[in-house]
Amino acid sequence: MTKIKNDNFLRACRREATDYTPIWLMRQAGRYMAEYRKLREKADFLTMCKTPELAAEVTMQPINRFDLDAAIIFADILLPVEGMGINLEFKEKTGPIIHNPVRNRKDIDALRIIDAERDVPYLSKAISLVKQELNNKIPLIGFSSAPFTLASYMIEGGHSRNYLETKQMFYNEPEMWNDLMTKIVDVLIISLKAQVEAGVDVLQLFDSWVGCLSTGDYREYVLPHSKRLIDSVKGEGLPIIHFGTDTATLLTSMKEAGGDVIGADWRINLDEAWKMIGDDVGIQGNIDPLILFSNQKEIEKRVKDILNRAEGRPGHIFNLGHGILPKTPIDNVAFLIDTVHNLSRK
Ligand code: CP3
Repeated sequence: MTKIKNDNFLRACRREATDYTPIWLMRQAGRYMAEYRKLREKADFLTMCKTPELAAEVTMQPINRFDLDAAIIFADILLPVEGMGINLEFKEKTGPIIHNPVRNRKDIDALRIIDAERDVPYLSKAISLVKQELNNKIPLIGFSSAPFTLASYMIEGGHSRNYLETKQMFYNEPEMWNDLMTKIVDVLIISLKAQVEAGVDVLQLFDSWVGCLSTGDYREYVLPHSKRLIDSVKGEGLPIIHFGTDTATLLTSMKEAGGDVIGADWRINLDEAWKMIGDDVGIQGNIDPLILFSNQKEIEKRVKDILNRAEGRPGHIFNLGHGILPKTPIDNVAFLIDTVHNLSRK
């Protein structure tokens, strides 16, 4: 592998010393950028994801504008489900909708295991294009959902408040649930390995909605599947970031499932989260994305607080506690990135 020029992010993933605390932002390519909105007028979201030239262009938009320490390939956690036989739509303002949710044994048996070349060829092409464009300036992150969050979309048919259908499945039909999770993990392994082969440098797993679970349910119904996914891809030798939200009660169990770096949302203090997961893993986080709607003085205060809690220990990657929101003031984004670099530079 060719050496990456700014490898502070990779070094932090391995808990090695860095020149400053590296930062990237979840959902860093998106509607808060005028460049993105302009392209989006011409193409819908799925078309953008599936057209490698457009996906590569959007991936590079935040990189060309800000001093970020990592790029993340422009795609979506839901894309692999189409190849499984799921009818997926991204509705303006509503978000993702699945028109044929998975509810019974017959639905699960009908799900196909994807073939990366047949079902997600655009993803590998977009990754190759971005790698060329980056020219080893900074690393590129590949990603997938973690099994629970993807299962919840497939079962509920979209975003959910109470996860009633999902929880009903694992309470009442645990065998069916395990069969579904097994198929999902098989698909996610294929998707992640294809991204590694195409050239990504780091993998992130998003378990965005896992915080709806009790610790007991996470450990019984989710942990073994997340662990199998992580165990199956860690042989590729890339750092793995394991992220979820509302996970203050789940962090130690998530760490047990695996990952070199654990993501923390803003609800927990960074030092407390790091104490829970232990210093044999790195931590990513954890400023509230809503802070970007405040002012520079407030942003600086919050950055200082998080950096103080990290105490300059190797293994901290600065990020938002969750994805950036569409109406975020762009000047505050630039200010956040520069402030993290300036205040942490050694
Ligand atoms: O980080 C990046 O810049 C890479 C791109 C990326 C997107 N989605 C693009 C996107 C990544 C890493 C994701 C992951 C993703 N997708 C997650 C996990 C991260 C998280 O925020 O929890 C989830 C839960 C999804 C599912 C999803 N996709 C939702 C809920 C939505 C709608 C939300 C919204 O803001 O409208 C999407 C659509 C989506 N994915 C958009 C983008 C830029 C908005 C599409 C548009 O209308 O332009």
